[in-house]
This record gives sequence, structure tokens and C-alpha cells, in this order.
Amino acid sequence: MARQFFVGGNFKMNPVSRQAKAALAKTLNKADLDPATEVVVAPPAIYLLPLKDILRKDVKVSAQNCYFKDSGAFTGEISPKQLVDSEIPYVILGHSERRTLFHETSELVATKTRAALDSSLSVILCIGETLQEREADQTAKVCQTQLKAVVEVLKESDWSKIVIAYEPVWAIGTGKVATSSQAQEAHADIRAYLSKAVSPAVAETTRIIYGGSVTAANCKELSTKPDVDGFLVGGASLKPEFVDIINAKL
Ligand code: G3H
Repeated sequence: MARQFFVGGNFKMNPVSRQAKAALAKTLNKADLDPATEVVVAPPAIYLLPLKDILRKDVKVSAQNCYFKDSGAFTGEISPKQLVDSEIPYVILGHSERRTLFHETSELVATKTRAALDSSLSVILCIGETLQEREADQTAKVCQTQLKAVVEVLKESDWSKIVIAYEPVWAIGTGKVATSSQAQEAHADIRAYLSKAVSPAVAETTRIIYGGSVTAANCKELSTKPDVDGFLVGGASLKPEFVDIINAKL
């Protein structure tokens, strides 16, 4: 079965007003979006519910993070159960900004992934190498190490609820997008690893999307690659061109 194209918009800690958030929803609500593409947007936590309320129903909403406990004395955190109770279907985990700025280890990302799946959330799981690691020819190894921690805590059936986002750190927010060949090579390596570490069926069906300076101008070329199943878009998801990225396959 063909993998459904997936485009996620990670708003990060943007926008900074309720009006701007409503304007983003308006742009999506009035756009002609490729019905064959799954679209998910991830606003800051404070906008999850109000955005969901005003957004068209064929665009899903995702949290940008969650904790691994159901409830308790964890100031500032949101639990997977609270997301599910609020009918938020997705959560982004392991984003490089969380790994770097908030010191999240691959083991913590794996624990959160396990907890999210146990609450029946779907997970956009981010992995990717730094520039130094790429230059040292460590891209495949770094991606495998980050994935291995998750592989160790998942059952084969869990993978239907995982979308892997390959996001080279050097491409995030820099305007230096990976070439389509670089993205294809990394995605093919990730798929080969999944085949070996989990199963050929999981490797075949799991969507691997690319993130890092995706724009309307470069998305079409990237989308032609056989192992690129969509995008996780940061900066451009806040602009009208996000619609063109969603429609990359048209
Ligand atoms: O989650 C999204 C990525 O960090 C990509 O961000 O499109 O601004 O480079 P960017």
C-alpha cells in the first residue's frame, strides 16, 4: 500500500498573538488542499484548543511536546492523557530544539514516545544529525542511534502510529535545505535500518518525512524522491506558501 503523503507545520513558539494564529487558520481554511495529503499543524500549547476549534476538520492539530506521566507534580508539563482528552491526535517528540536546548536524551524521547502511544496518540518522531556529524560521515549512525532507543521500547504494531521526521540540524531554520539526493540517501538509510531492526513491513509502511528549510520553492523537487513521504515545515508553515508545500504532489 502506498504511503500517504504527510505535511506537518511546526509553528514552534510562534505566532505571538491570537490574531496571527487566527489568520493562519483562515489561510488554511480557505485554501484548496490536496485531499490525498495528511495535514497536521502544531501550534504552541496555549493555542492547541482554540486553533482546533476554528480550523477545518481535515487539518489535524498536534502538540509540540508532552511528558511521560499521566498527571502529578510536574510543573509546566502536559500529559499524553490530557492531549487525548482534548482530542489532540498527534504530538511531536524528539525535535532537535528539545534535544539541544532542553537536554532531552534519546532515552527520554523513547520514554515519552512509549507513553504517548500508550495513550493512543500518534507521534511525529524527529531525528537528525548536526553539521559536524554529517562532515564526519556519521549521518546514518546518528539517525540509527536516535531511532534505536525508540525501537527498543516499541512493539511492531506501534509503528503504524509513528511518522519519522528526518531533520538535519544544519538545515533547520538556516535556509540551507538538504539536496533532494541528501534527503533521499538519509531516508533510504533510515528505512533500511527499520527493515533490519523492526521488520521489512514496518520499513515499507512507515512514513519518513523531511524537515529543514522546506519552502514552496524546494518542496516539489524533494517530493519526487521515493523515500521522502512528506515534510515537517517550520518557518514556512507560518506563511501562505505553506499551502503550496501541502500541495507539493499536485
Ligand atoms: O520542525 C520543523 C523544523 O525544525 C524545520 O524548521 O522549516 O524553519 O527549517 P524550518
